[in-house]
Amino acid sequence: MNITLSDKMHHFQTSIFNELASYKKKKIQDGKEMIDLSVGSPDLPPAQFVIDELAKHVTRPSNYGYTLTGIEELHEAITTYYRNQYGVSLNAEKEALMVMGSQDGLVHLPMVLTNPGDIILLPDPGYTAYDTGVTLAGATVYGMPLKEENNFLPDLEAIPEKIREKAKLMILNFPGNPVPALATKQFFEQVVAFAKKHQIAVVHDFAYSELYYEQKPVSFLSIEGAKDVGVEFNSFSKSFNLAGCRIGYIVGNPTIIAGLNRLKSNLDYGVFLPIQKAAIRALENSASFSEELRAIYKKRRDILVNGLNALGWKVDAPSSSMFIWAKVPKLFTSTEFVYRLMDDAGIVVVPGNAFGDAGEGYVRIGLVQPEEVLEKAVTKLRSSTLFSTIEAINY
Ligand SMILES: Cc1ncc(COP(=O)(O)O)c(C=O)c1O
Repeated sequence: MNITLSDKMHHFQTSIFNELASYKKKKIQDGKEMIDLSVGSPDLPPAQFVIDELAKHVTRPSNYGYTLTGIEELHEAITTYYRNQYGVSLNAEKEALMVMGSQDGLVHLPMVLTNPGDIILLPDPGYTAYDTGVTLAGATVYGMPLKEENNFLPDLEAIPEKIREKAKLMILNFPGNPVPALATKQFFEQVVAFAKKHQIAVVHDFAYSELYYEQKPVSFLSIEGAKDVGVEFNSFSKSFNLAGCRIGYIVGNPTIIAGLNRLKSNLDYGVFLPIQKAAIRALENSASFSEELRAIYKKRRDILVNGLNALGWKVDAPSSSMFIWAKVPKLFTSTEFVYRLMDDAGIVVVPGNAFGDAGEGYVRIGLVQPEEVLEKAVTKLRSSTLFSTIEAINY
């Protein structure tokens, strides 16, 4: 029999991450030492008290059934965390819902809120899962470019009237991946007003909420009226190094949350109870762990940013998240530069255009290796043919 895949599958091509991984593998087989700064996954362990909580519950035979959804205690812990962190008050039953990693919510929510043909406004460049959600919903993307001259915030005024009329959903992400920008309170206020005027639901992806260095990120839900128009996703993956546990949550507008809950009750059976218990412990004791985590990423950031600038590669220090969004020298496209970095210096980063057309001209560098490895990366760059001729780094 001739098996054919659906038309929808044309949208799901092999990702650039797989291409980079196989090129890196080939280089290693050829005897090259490679330093991988391309992944967006934390290399650090969770807090020991979180591991201990998980271990305790794993040994209880009664904990192996379906959980179906988030347990009440987790939803309570989420609302307490939001009250303490952001002064946001939420109803644990109706305004908070566990998801199987924020990705689960991000890819499924567009189906809950849009019909085929509706427009979804996405940041460009933006996290790749947003596109997946649009495709699953059969909706259409309108990219909102994140430009340096606008501090990498979308220009809402630049969205044409016709697009506003057909748009049903806007996705935002601050601190962002791949662009480590922060939203201001004023920007979020504009978003709430824009959403109300044009009847567009807002999803704010807050996955990097605990990774900041100078200034605490603003929760979208802390803005007056935000709960009327939208929701915020958060994740245990980056803030608590629990990426493999696949647990996150959505908070905010009860109608949107009820819709996602209804869809999910037809899709999955919840998250393993010990993981939910571990997540509760993480939220309850977040303060000191998060502070230590920020100190680690800040040191890494400073090593790499200072090292790259000393080489003549002018990069800005990110004020949040775990990425440097670095301009590519004019001589190269993003992809050319990424391959040159692999060939000449043995460093793997991601071309900015992997996250959308407006990412062309940039690369994303992850702070996902220990300090000594980042120092080595700078040394490798310094001695590479690419960086030994300063003319190459000509903006
Ligand atoms: C911006 C952003 N949102 C969401 C996610 C997905 O996180 P989770 O592990 O909670 O599914 C990621 C993962 O890299 C991300 O970078």
